[in-house]
Amino acid sequence: MKKSLAVLLSLLLVCSFAFAEEDATTSATLNIDQLPEVKTEDNGILVVFFSPDFTTRAAAYAIAAGLNAGLFEIEAAEPYTQEDLNYFNNFARSMEESRDKNARPAITALPENLDKYDTILLGYPVWGGKAPKILYTFLESVDLSGKTIVPFCTSNSSPFGSSDKDLKKLAGDSVTWKKGTRIQKGATAEQIIEKAPEILNPEE
Ligand SMILES: Cc1cc2nc3c(=O)[nH]c(=O)nc-3n(C[C@H](O)[C@H](O)[C@H](O)COP(=O)(O)O)c2cc1C
Repeated sequence: MKKSLAVLLSLLLVCSFAFAEEDATTSATLNIDQLPEVKTEDNGILVVFFSPDFTTRAAAYAIAAGLNAGLFEIEAAEPYTQEDLNYFNNFARSMEESRDKNARPAITALPENLDKYDTILLGYPVWGGKAPKILYTFLESVDLSGKTIVPFCTSNSSPFGSSDKDLKKLAGDSVTWKKGTRIQKGATAEQIIEKAPEILNPEE
């Protein structure tokens, strides 16, 4: 009984953001087909992102380009296929992982020389109002003490949900956690590049 209620609630959630997507003028989440060029400087800022499809990657590159920041991709040891990401299938890998509070998908590598950075922008897609569990793997595998973390997310229509609060809790009190930005649907690389300083230093 409990399981069928969980399935029904997941279906309702999927339908609500899937329908919102149909109202939008673009089919892609962002209006970016080509990744902007990033000229990294030694300025203590690193953009860390997880993007099993393309959207968060495009946002991460544009933010890094706007800040001349470093870039690091969180890559799953077992890459996500399109079927894994099919949220219309309640039993797809991404959906199963979202429900499983103990899921910690393995990561291929962690960033080197993290001590070079004092600010980490952390980007991910919203999955069912939460962060993908691989972000939990990441935060549990690195020491970010003393650093400032600024989250950003992409989604079809949902805001952060509980994702940033959940991640903040995992990161602990030794970090300064800033308010995050949801990258707006339809944004272009130029718009994100221009907005990057504001994403880095949001008005609290
Ligand atoms: C398992 C799963 C759950 C999702 N849940 C939501 C959601 O709750 N709200 C929403 O607006 N979009 C949701 N989406 C859509 C993604 O957040 C959106 O397409 C995101 O921009 C994808 O980023 P990526 O291309 O970097 O993977 C979900 C996608 C997946 C695969």
